[in-house]
Amino acid sequence: MKFDRPATTNPSDRMAVLGQPHTRIDGKLKTTGTAAYAYERHDAVEGQLYGYPLGAGIARGHVLAMDTREAEAAPGVVTVVTTLQMEKLPQDDRNIVRLFGGPEIVHYHQAIAVVVAETFEQARAAANMIRVTYDEDTSEIYNLAEKREMVEDQDIQTHTNVGDFHTAFGQAEVKLDATYVTPPQTHVMMEPHASIAHWTDGRLRVWTSSQMIDWHRQALATTFSLDPEAVHVESPFIGGGFGGKLFLRADAVLAALGAKKAGRPVKVALPRPMVINNTTHRAETIQHIRIGATKEGKITAIFHDCVSNTPPGGAGEDATNQTRYFYAGEHRLIVNRLAQVRLPESNSMRAPGEAAGLMALEVAMDEMAEKLGMDPVEFRIANDTQVVPENPSQKFSQRRFVECLRHGAETFGWTNPKPMSQRDGDWLIGHGMSGAYRGAPAQPSGARVRLQPNGRLIVETDMTDIGTGSYTILAQTAAEMTGLPMDRIEMRLGNSSFPVSSGSGGQFGAASSTAGLYAACVALRAMIAERMQADPDTLDFRDGQVIDGARSLPLSGFASEGEMVAEDKIEFGDFRSKEYKLATFAAHFVETRVNAYTGEIRLQRMLSVCDAGRILNPVTARSQVIGGMTMGVGSALMEKLDVDDKRGFFVNHDLAGYEVPVHLDIPQQEVIFLTGDDPVSTPLKAKGVGELGISGVAAAVANAIHNATGVRVRDFPITLDKFIDRLPPV
Ligand code: MOS
Repeated sequence: MKFDRPATTNPSDRMAVLGQPHTRIDGKLKTTGTAAYAYERHDAVEGQLYGYPLGAGIARGHVLAMDTREAEAAPGVVTVVTTLQMEKLPQDDRNIVRLFGGPEIVHYHQAIAVVVAETFEQARAAANMIRVTYDEDTSEIYNLAEKREMVEDQDIQTHTNVGDFHTAFGQAEVKLDATYVTPPQTHVMMEPHASIAHWTDGRLRVWTSSQMIDWHRQALATTFSLDPEAVHVESPFIGGGFGGKLFLRADAVLAALGAKKAGRPVKVALPRPMVINNTTHRAETIQHIRIGATKEGKITAIFHDCVSNTPPGGAGEDATNQTRYFYAGEHRLIVNRLAQVRLPESNSMRAPGEAAGLMALEVAMDEMAEKLGMDPVEFRIANDTQVVPENPSQKFSQRRFVECLRHGAETFGWTNPKPMSQRDGDWLIGHGMSGAYRGAPAQPSGARVRLQPNGRLIVETDMTDIGTGSYTILAQTAAEMTGLPMDRIEMRLGNSSFPVSSGSGGQFGAASSTAGLYAACVALRAMIAERMQADPDTLDFRDGQVIDGARSLPLSGFASEGEMVAEDKIEFGDFRSKEYKLATFAAHFVETRVNAYTGEIRLQRMLSVCDAGRILNPVTARSQVIGGMTMGVGSALMEKLDVDDKRGFFVNHDLAGYEVPVHLDIPQQEVIFLTGDDPVSTPLKAKGVGELGISGVAAAVANAIHNATGVRVRDFPITLDKFIDRLPPV
């Protein structure tokens, strides 16, 4: 099905099942511990061995020698595979740095060996017995601020140069010129990267934890020089990804290498320190923002420059993206720069771009409102736009940011209190707010539906559920389209035997995969209409019946001779991006307390009002947003990977040293979705919310802290050492 013009009325509009608050259909399996994650697929194949990885102990240089004799002689060890035994493996374009093979080390904890043994403990013990001799290159600079000064080392992308920023900024009545820093972050999903690999007759089977089944399959095929048809990938349950499981990583490569050499299936999980230094992270950013406005608060000039770290060939973190679209202003200069820093690979992490970009832009907007003496809500409303500021012929398909702001302000009880004006005993109280923007892309996505003689419907797609609710919203889509009850729908996801889907990424998963399943269901409905010699548009599918005027037939009857199978995929026409800009919006409001003596920060309440088209399931959508809000609190107050500037690695590489919010850190959270469909987005008129939920949150927290204390911290996370000496006198 080609989606090449805005949706009109269609069967999904009934919203008898879609749009309803269904709890997760996979919830029981997960909460009872019976959902088997990658490392737990004990039943997948007999005779599994354990592989334990070894990561390089240097960030840059060469491995000169590896003495594996002691490891190979250790109890239970079956085999050892080292990076010196092979050339660099062929690599998929999506992987920036090498995954395995050859003596060269390009980042710390690059995988250099896997020990395969009968038990996990034996493999781990033997991995520690490998003696590695390195030739270490210590000339690299790992400090982004230092690299930022070295212009020749940078890849400069000018996104926007509209009007004459410099002149307009020079003449502006009110100006802000400030620099913000966001730190490197790591996904710390609960489930580490893990894979079981098994070879039979030159075919490779991998049970893994992946957001993108087909990317994984293609990358494995490339790495091992196989036909993609000879690679099978399964990932039905995933314990979080956040962008860290988009691409093939060392766990699957090591498992496959170990399995090949051992002649038996091998499972490998990356230990937590290797998750952090071996896989990807969100880049550090240094963002320079300048805003000029009239004294009435109209933005006339806006500048956003970001520099972030990446290994050569990577994309870093372009934190300027939202600034191209979010606020009006005639004169605009928006520049992204990449500094080559040979840390582990920086790549996507939840809302790549906006999550870090709004941490700066939305604090800058707050600072600007303060300079103008304006309510920050009103300042944002004054600079709202219904067209793309740098390209006014492109209009937002749906943009209700002002409604988010007004509805949020009213619900929260926003009064724009003056800084340091609220106090409760030892606690300074602050209110802060921010806006949020995140794009709403869509990707081609396929699905197959199989109507069974017993009246059940099997849905097959390689779409993944990374904790987001895919199982549930897809089952709702199938139930809505076929008129079958939810308990008649059997969902099968995360398997490369099934039609290729969008996968889970970029906030496109929910919108794209439900549209793909819609297409497959439309195909099934057409087959049924043909059998009935009826017009598919006038058929009604409800309560297990197919109704054509006065005629009513049970749906299951159409499969009485054997299952009825329909398959299709959705493809999105370029009208979506040519004529329109699709995006999601939110307004966040936060109340926090800061202890007047100790600087301890305690959040009190949080509210997010979201504009994301049709909400397919308010329960799973809310969970996505409160998860994002929680991650936003982590960004504001805790999360930071600390770089060892001399040796080029992330020092705090475990869950003890990389802090994330726990229940006690999270206050009352309220989420409101504006109702209303976006027919430009997909046939289901829906957009994603998972990345919107994190976007802008950290800035609202930062602005609330400023409101409580009068202190601005422009360097995230806001730990008390950064402001305790600036607290107002008690
Ligand atoms: Mo997302 S950061 O594209 O998984």
